[in-house]
Amino acid sequence: MENVKINWPNKKSSNCSPGVEWLKAAYEANIEIPTGCLGGSCGACEIEVNGKVIRACIATVPKGKELNVEFFSDPYW
Ligand code: FES
Repeated sequence: MENVKINWPNKKSSNCSPGVEWLKAAYEANIEIPTGCLGGSCGACEIEVNGKVIRACIATVPKGKELNVEFFSDPYW
């Protein structure tokens, strides 16, 4: 399976397989996505992927060559 390159907001990038949960992909890249309910209802984990808002806790990394991730609030950097 083809790897997806993910560009994180802190200028780091990582590679992962499509279908991996976003929280796991972030964890593997040492990125912390803020979370709350982990069930798709609170919105704490919302990130923007190539300009499209998703809820990281219930979404997986889509197929694609390269994804640019933005966070809305960034308490960490
Ligand atoms: S953690 Fe609440 S919507 Fe994702």
